[in-house]
Amino acid sequence: MITLQNPLDMHIHLREGEILKSVLNFSAKYFSGALAMPNLKIPLNDTNKVLEYKKDIENTTKELNCEAFTPIMSMYLSESLNKDELIKAKKEGIKILKLYPKGATTGSENGVSEILNQKICDIFQIAQDLGFILSIHGESNGFSMDREFEFGEIFEKIAINFPKLKIIMEHLSDRRSIDLLKYDNIFATITLHHITMSLDDVLGSGLNPHYFCKPILKTPKDRDALINLALSGSEKISFGSDSAPHLESNKLKQNGAAGIFSAPILLPRLCEIFEKNNRLENLQKFISDNAKKIYGLQNIPNKTITLTKEKYKVQDSILVGNDKIIPLLAGEVLSWKIKDTRN
Ligand code: DOR
Ligand code: ZN
Repeated sequence: MITLQNPLDMHIHLREGEILKSVLNFSAKYFSGALAMPNLKIPLNDTNKVLEYKKDIENTTKELNCEAFTPIMSMYLSESLNKDELIKAKKEGIKILKLYPKGATTGSENGVSEILNQKICDIFQIAQDLGFILSIHGESNGFSMDREFEFGEIFEKIAINFPKLKIIMEHLSDRRSIDLLKYDNIFATITLHHITMSLDDVLGSGLNPHYFCKPILKTPKDRDALINLALSGSEKISFGSDSAPHLESNKLKQNGAAGIFSAPILLPRLCEIFEKNNRLENLQKFISDNAKKIYGLQNIPNKTITLTKEKYKVQDSILVGNDKIIPLLAGEVLSWKIKDTRN
């Protein structure tokens, strides 16, 4: 048995409308809080849009009877952001900016084309002065397996030029990125899928579109380096699932949507992995304590989750209208199960 205090998921796609209603309970029941990504159909690129979405999430948690959940909000960084808007956002409690390179992934059409141009650097300067955290989907537009590595030099330049700006490398996928954590102001999130799977799970025995995501799953060596980093409890690392639900119909279209829906299995599967590697004692840091420090989340209301070593079968799908979403490890049996949740 293990008891976890205040689990936090520092990178999640909760979507909107019907999908939000279908997926939110998986996070809101078992996590104290989660950082909601702003890449909606209309990107959340100003304060009002972010606040409206926050209300949507809060209303949905009420409908689902899981109100003991704090949505942590982020704002989509685009060239049109200015100082007044950033001051307004900060006043409203928004402290995370999410930067997508244009075209890098789902919902990044309104992202930034030239990350180090003057306009964006001015935004970084204001963000630094106001104490924002800059969260980045770090991928170039080069060869898929090298995209994160190639982006490394941009991380370095931002870290050096804005030494007081906290930068988060989202969803680490390449072992060559780990070295960048040597910069005092660079931190990272790590997903469940990047520490447990490799490219073979996507295309090693037939094509599995449900395991296609950005950044793409990489080699077993990358996976093993990242799992060791997560298991170490390093204070530089927070858990961020990047759970990203897509309707099956969109997954199966020729231009398959990128994203893995992992929300239904996160805590049991993490227990399984940390136990298997004899590191259960570090799970609390990975799942909550580190994030609290990095993002300054000391005042999140209390939530205690107890898990036991019991078999638990992952559901095959989650119905959404006439369509469905297929979760990570659909139909498989895990060896840990959530026993109890207390607020
Ligand atoms: O696989 C991904 N899916 N990576 C992202 O960066 C975005 C996400 C989504 O929104 O579907
Ligand atoms: Zn994401």
